[in-house]
Amino acid sequence: MRADPNPHGATASGSGASGAGAAGAGAPGAPLQKPSGWQRGDAPQRLAQTALRDVPWEVGVAKPDPAIVVDGVTRTFGGLTAVAVDHLEVQRGGITGLIGPNGAGKTTLFNLLTGFDQPNTGSWEFDGRPLGKLAPHQVARLGVVRTFQLTKALSRLTVLQNMLLGAQGQRGESFWRALVPGTWKSQEQANTEKAMDLLRRFKLDAKKDDFAGTLSGGQRKLLEMARALMSDPKVVMLDEPMAGVNPALTQSLLGHVKDLREEGMTVIFVEHDMDVVRDISDWVVVMAAGRVIAEGPPESISQNQAVVDAYLGAHHDAPLTVEEEDQVLAQAEREIAREEHGGGDVLRSDTTTGKGER
Ligand SMILES: Nc1ncnc2c1ncn2[C@@H]1O[C@H](COP(=O)(O)OP(=O)(O)O)[C@@H](O)[C@H]1O
Ligand SMILES: [Mg+2]
Repeated sequence: MRADPNPHGATASGSGASGAGAAGAGAPGAPLQKPSGWQRGDAPQRLAQTALRDVPWEVGVAKPDPAIVVDGVTRTFGGLTAVAVDHLEVQRGGITGLIGPNGAGKTTLFNLLTGFDQPNTGSWEFDGRPLGKLAPHQVARLGVVRTFQLTKALSRLTVLQNMLLGAQGQRGESFWRALVPGTWKSQEQANTEKAMDLLRRFKLDAKKDDFAGTLSGGQRKLLEMARALMSDPKVVMLDEPMAGVNPALTQSLLGHVKDLREEGMTVIFVEHDMDVVRDISDWVVVMAAGRVIAEGPPESISQNQAVVDAYLGAHHDAPLTVEEEDQVLAQAEREIAREEHGGGDVLRSDTTTGKGER
């Protein structure tokens, strides 16, 4: 094994890490190898990576400038401990890859941090501000948004309507409105312009009047990321943005994730493909059985014994099944039906006359 590049020395969690296996091995902060053909985000700021260079590879380690700080968060379901995170800090302006075997608690942690679920214990902060008691739309309004492992693009709304969803009215308790917080009726025109700008950026503008249900899985992921950006977030949590995306769109999605960092956002993303994780993460957090079992730069992770053990015999998340996708969409349509009864303006436009088509 090579000398540990970590100047503070490896720790219990990082003791198996040697830094081998990545282009940056032995030279913390050096750019990692990019897949060939890479075009976008080739020259990321890497500010976070530089800032993290001297941070020990220890679970719960303090970061130089944390945007998110988690303390003692636990969530149990019956007898199962889905999340038990003692302390976790997420560096501002970086891309933090959150990895771990299926059932590790990654999605549940996202749910908790963004107000979509309530913990049994614990607290967490964004920029020093406690978020624990806030509803999703309040969390989002403060600048912390997320996307979903199972895409929430609503199939029988148009692409543009999906973007504007929640942009009208302030009944923020609604799950769907929480996805695009902080915008109101008087801003309708501005919202539309902003939505179109984002759709152009994600190359979905030509599809603005298409039903989201006609998009490919990858395009839905792009739509969901575009929608998350409607509220100018500061922290974006992406739950498996690449899952189910065909290879042609993967590079494009990756580029968009890097672009978020370029714009100064803090990104936390769940991903299973270690090549992808190595490529774009400034820091990697590994969960297993609800706990953080390792953290460090990407090159520290693959040879970490605790990580290897956690993955041995563990199954990676299976790709979404058609049934799962349909269940989510059916639930979404029930939500929309309720919103329509409530008179949600965004749903009243020419293009919704095809409702019931699905
Ligand atoms: N609503 C729920 N009810 C019961 N168990 C749940 C619920 N949500 C998640 N779990 C369980 O919590 C654990 C963590 O799940 P999850 O956060 O989805 O893991 P990951 O996203 O890392 O695959 C799993 O064992 C899962 O079955
Ligand atoms: Mg998950």
